[in-house]
Amino acid sequence: MTTAQSIDQMVDLQRGTIARTIFSDEVIYREEQEKLFTRAWLMVGHESLIPKPGDYFLTRMGAESAILCRDKQGVIHVFLNSCRHKGMRVLRYEQGNTPAFTCPYHRWTFGTDGRLQTVPQFKELYEGHMNPDEWSLVEVAKLVNYKGSIWATWDKEAPGFIDYLGSAKAHLDEALNHRDGREGGSECIGVHKWIFGANWKFPSENFAGDMYHAVSHQSVEMVGIGPSAQAGVKERRDDELLNARLLHVSSTEGHGVISGLLPENSPHKPTFQGNPEIQAYAEKCYHERKQRLGDKARLVGLTGTIFPNTSYHARQPRSLVVWHPHSPTQTEAWRFFLVDADSPPAVKDMLRRYYMRYSGPAGMTEQDDMENWYYATEATKGAIASRYPFNYQLSLGVYRSDDVMPGNISPQTTEEMARGFYRAWSSYMKDEDWSHLLGHHLPKKMLNDNP
Ligand code: FES
Ligand SMILES: [Fe+2]
Repeated sequence: MTTAQSIDQMVDLQRGTIARTIFSDEVIYREEQEKLFTRAWLMVGHESLIPKPGDYFLTRMGAESAILCRDKQGVIHVFLNSCRHKGMRVLRYEQGNTPAFTCPYHRWTFGTDGRLQTVPQFKELYEGHMNPDEWSLVEVAKLVNYKGSIWATWDKEAPGFIDYLGSAKAHLDEALNHRDGREGGSECIGVHKWIFGANWKFPSENFAGDMYHAVSHQSVEMVGIGPSAQAGVKERRDDELLNARLLHVSSTEGHGVISGLLPENSPHKPTFQGNPEIQAYAEKCYHERKQRLGDKARLVGLTGTIFPNTSYHARQPRSLVVWHPHSPTQTEAWRFFLVDADSPPAVKDMLRRYYMRYSGPAGMTEQDDMENWYYATEATKGAIASRYPFNYQLSLGVYRSDDVMPGNISPQTTEEMARGFYRAWSSYMKDEDWSHLLGHHLPKKMLNDNP
């Protein structure tokens, strides 16, 4: 059992050090399941995966199996995927459509609204002493469909999702909004799922804003796998962010993001593959977005992590990814690839190919990252190695809290987002209430401030 004191010793954010043990210790892992994954908002899927009544998508919340489904009335639900009789999974397929969830063990059957509908031999064996209404599937306390992405929490005391997002909202919106600036409008064209040998916090903190690791992807940059490659741009993304000033945004809610702020009247003109149809779509979106959003169109999202374990790539490539914990040293990644639902087939096809070059188990950029996280996790277990904490001192104390956007914004490459992530992590692990997490800003500082 960890204590508040031992958490503070392990995560020392004044000094900027974190004990390696939090990345591989069994007790800490179990307490994360208990104290963090039962309380935080978790992403469970996308509405386009369950468009019709009866549609389901097998999902996870923390280390537990869950069901995302749409009932006969079209209402979206999330249930624990465990029969109320003796616990067997009532859903064993990844995705599909069903009139009901029938448990294969003794055949209790639950409706798509979670209610226990039929029990074999009910009259003879249960009537009079068992009330089926008390044995529905366990349902999440709160659920939200946020611009197509579905989020849920087991905690009935959890704050509303928008409050929970805090200053990360505008940045997450960059992944979820239409490329032409309309709200929402995305479609998930596929989910890559794979398991890798690293603690789930490594990818979460990395996506919260580790710009310092760009060197890991140098070979991918040199190859130029981005959608603008045929137009001569040697990049792994498109050329949208080349002139942008980077905003490194951390928050006391634990989220961390990096977005770009384009110069005023940026002459940016998107270039895509030299294919006229795709190019025309990109330009149409670009101009409509500018018209719709005005000055706000200058904000272009890059990456981020919504605490605790959902990350995103906002624009190129564009996806949401959940880092599901399996064990202290094993994580299952689910990457949901997004496109504009109403974009032409040629655009969707180009992006699908690009996303696979970039992300997923065979994606060139993702492979670089996983190798780092694997060996870093390995090095948290060694008898000698575990005596030495990790260093989180990069740009310690360098941030502003009164910039163009809400949140604590650093003008330079920083690990402030990672520190913010572990500040929130510590708060959950110490069982602090929500008021310690939401809507606070660090005291204003302006050190080395030279944007
Ligand atoms: S475990 Fe499901 S019916 Fe018995
Ligand atoms: Fe990376």
